Amino acid sequence: MLVIVGGSMAAVKAPSVLRRLREGGVSVNVIATRAALAFITELSLSTAADGPVGTDAAWFSPRPDALHLTLAKVDAAVIVGASAELLAGAAHGHANELALATLLSVPGPVLWVPAMNAAMWHNRAVQANVARLRDWGHHFLGPEVGSFGTRGEGAGIGRMAEPEDIAAAVLKLLAPAAVSDSKGRDLDGLHVVVSAGPTREYLDPVRFISNPSSGKMGFAVAMEARDRGARVTLVTGPVNLPGPSGMAVVRINSALELRDAVVQAAQDADIVVMTAAVADYRAAELKGEKQAKVAGDVSIHLTPNPDILAELGQNKGERVLVGFAMETHAGVERAAAKAARKNADFILLNYPTQEGTAFGGDDNQVTLVRADGSHQDWPRASKRQVARQLLNEALRVRDLRVREQRTTD
Ligand code: CTP
Repeated sequence: MLVIVGGSMAAVKAPSVLRRLREGGVSVNVIATRAALAFITELSLSTAADGPVGTDAAWFSPRPDALHLTLAKVDAAVIVGASAELLAGAAHGHANELALATLLSVPGPVLWVPAMNAAMWHNRAVQANVARLRDWGHHFLGPEVGSFGTRGEGAGIGRMAEPEDIAAAVLKLLAPAAVSDSKGRDLDGLHVVVSAGPTREYLDPVRFISNPSSGKMGFAVAMEARDRGARVTLVTGPVNLPGPSGMAVVRINSALELRDAVVQAAQDADIVVMTAAVADYRAAELKGEKQAKVAGDVSIHLTPNPDILAELGQNKGERVLVGFAMETHAGVERAAAKAARKNADFILLNYPTQEGTAFGGDDNQVTLVRADGSHQDWPRASKRQVARQLLNEALRVRDLRVREQRTTD
């Protein structure tokens, strides 16, 4: 895969894209344009790529190989932080810089991920270049609506797609053979339901009880399932993540809403993964008006929320049920007891105290725990890799169940 980093503020997100692609088993050739190097250093890119970065300086220095031809020996190309200048150059066959010259000989598909100020994006010349490239079969991801740049200027369309979505789009673009770690479309024909994020339990119209769950783990499971061919329903509490494409995304607030959405989606589900951090309690009485301050202490009367995983466990059928648990002590024992009580096939246990692996982090370190207390520590890995392993295990449980079913029939 050729990754070209363009001269845009969004170039700083390129290392995150490169890391995700490498985690997905994709080997990358990287080119940074001269303008890109004004935003990000060659060192950050080569560290993320775990290899050298092609630059104009290297191209123009005396060397025996033609860098623009070597770097073009790839299946496909993606331009991260594509600027108006790169679009114009490609739309007119220019070859005056390494990125453009290399693009001219890339044999496979090309994916543009533009990032620029909204006024520039809407400019007729830019739009004509985009239309021309589309005509030639080039693909585009974004730009999205959102503020562009650190000054928040140019809110409107122009913001680059998120690294996670770029990596997912690239993986889709590539032939499955290029993704060494991928299991292909082994979830084809299955319905996977994932819950993610926190719930909000409102006390009055402006105050609520919640928790800092970022939703990243659940989104990773949903995207991994989608990329492996599953039909996916993602039910998510309020999180700061764009809804991934290619799946049904149901946004909810409270645990009661989460329960309704999950129970409904789970009716024909094959695998249900509950990563949501569900509030165990809600206000016994939701006040219709904002509660004014009073002198002295106040107490809030809370009432328990339904346990969604346990409810699904009571009427499990053929479904594979996966839960998560965060524990601060006696983790395996407590998680095993939870798996047994909720009739979950397994629970992934993690520790909120572990740095970089809990709420909001990009990595996770979990222990797989079954109701019988058997458990397995998984190494710290990106949430996408944990999602991959989780789905492998869920599929294994499902295959075993189907086989057992056949022998008893
Ligand atoms: N869960 C759920 N419904 C709830 C609470 C939790 O479906 N009302 C799910 C979570 O999504 C998670 C698993 O159950 O997959 C474990 O959640 P956790 O809060 O650790 O379990 P609790 O039973 O609430 O245990 P604790 O007593 O530790 O709070």
